[in-house]
Amino acid sequence: MKNIPVLLNLILAVVIVVLVYQIQTRKESVHVETPLYSAVVKQGNIDDNQAGDKISVGVRGWIMPKPALVIGTYGEDGQPNIMTAAWAGIVNSHPLKIGVSLRPATLSFGNIMATKSFTINVPSVKYMAHMDYAGNISGRDGDKFAALGLTPIRGEYVNAPYIKEFPISIELEVTETINLGSHVQFIGTVIDTKIDPQFLKSDGSVDVEKLQPISYEGNSYYGFGPMLGKQSDIYKVFMDDMEPSFLPELSKANQTLETIYNRKSVRNFTGESVSRQHLTELVRSGMAAPTAVDKRPWAFIAIDDRATLDNLADVLPYAQMLRQTTAAIVVCGDLHKALPDDAQAYWVQDCSAATQNILLAAESMGLGAVWTGVHPITDREELVKQKLGLPQHIIPLNVIAIGHPTGIDKPKDKWNPELLRWNSW
Ligand SMILES: Cc1cc2nc3c(=O)[nH]c(=O)nc-3n(C[C@H](O)[C@H](O)[C@H](O)COP(=O)(O)O)c2cc1C
Repeated sequence: MKNIPVLLNLILAVVIVVLVYQIQTRKESVHVETPLYSAVVKQGNIDDNQAGDKISVGVRGWIMPKPALVIGTYGEDGQPNIMTAAWAGIVNSHPLKIGVSLRPATLSFGNIMATKSFTINVPSVKYMAHMDYAGNISGRDGDKFAALGLTPIRGEYVNAPYIKEFPISIELEVTETINLGSHVQFIGTVIDTKIDPQFLKSDGSVDVEKLQPISYEGNSYYGFGPMLGKQSDIYKVFMDDMEPSFLPELSKANQTLETIYNRKSVRNFTGESVSRQHLTELVRSGMAAPTAVDKRPWAFIAIDDRATLDNLADVLPYAQMLRQTTAAIVVCGDLHKALPDDAQAYWVQDCSAATQNILLAAESMGLGAVWTGVHPITDREELVKQKLGLPQHIIPLNVIAIGHPTGIDKPKDKWNPELLRWNSW
């Protein structure tokens, strides 16, 4: 009897130990099993690596991503120059300092030594080829600004030019110089940062998805994908009492739907030309459409000739935007390839599907486009046929005006749930 309290205490201790163990193991399994944890931590399709499975590959600079920046400098003679630099990064917060490592053999090195100033210009994907040129050709062999059609602007605060066309430019004054071996690192204190306001979000941050910066990885350049998570937020998937406000799995944009909903009829264009590469890709997207019995009864006339666009505008009262734009695609039915008899009219649906593909592809490329109808108005068909020299069996379905949008035209939300019925009328 004397041992009963001891026994009870022992039982209680065992129960507590078991409970604590259960709580602990449950806590551990929470992260493994919740969809939240899986959605964030187990993204991608890569097999889980067992610790220690990595192989050694020697000395490699495989930090990722690396920036691809363009450094602006003046020569002692005042000649503006640019060069590409990837060995760069922020090295201090207060004051804000950025280090850039240059080989002494570059012209830019001598320029920075002389002026103790430089600018950093962040290219968007639009300027990828310019950036690559600045990294392969020396300013000793010619004026890179002139060769690339870029505009040097004298720095507001430092003795270095920045690139007008690039979305972000940073003015820096050299405050430290460190000889590292092959490269000399110039540490610049940031005096001012300039950004094209179209890339500035209302909360003062950079619209990275719109800017489309470039990452350099050894032999290649890569783009950035959609936002994956928010800083000081996504870590909360590991907390039991907090949840992130932004979850990639839930908010990752479906780019196809986004393009579909953003498509609009664009009738206002900047006048900037559309490249043949873009027009070819648009026609290719048209040819990706489904067709009845896979007949592909189509023909496409891509137009980038001013006089031809104006000629079409002369005969198509509803296609006056052709005078403003620089390109068009005429989607035509080819009756020699169409199905016979009653099924011949399927060409209209086939070519309409191709047209919609072209409109969506244009939207996805940042271009604007509008479908202007030709068939079945026979007068219009005849006039377009004459202007383009089309043979009799080629029927123009429409003329799609294509160009760079001014931004005036906006998409409409046409969703009307009342028009959706389920299973029968
Ligand atoms: C993607 C890329 C990154 C580069 N990064 C650097 C770098 O960090 N430091 C450097 O000295 N050269 C770098 N270069 C090479 C220089 O940009 C190149 O030598 C350039 O022609 C020098 O121009 P300049 O003589 O007009 O100054 C890079 C080139 C490329 C294409």
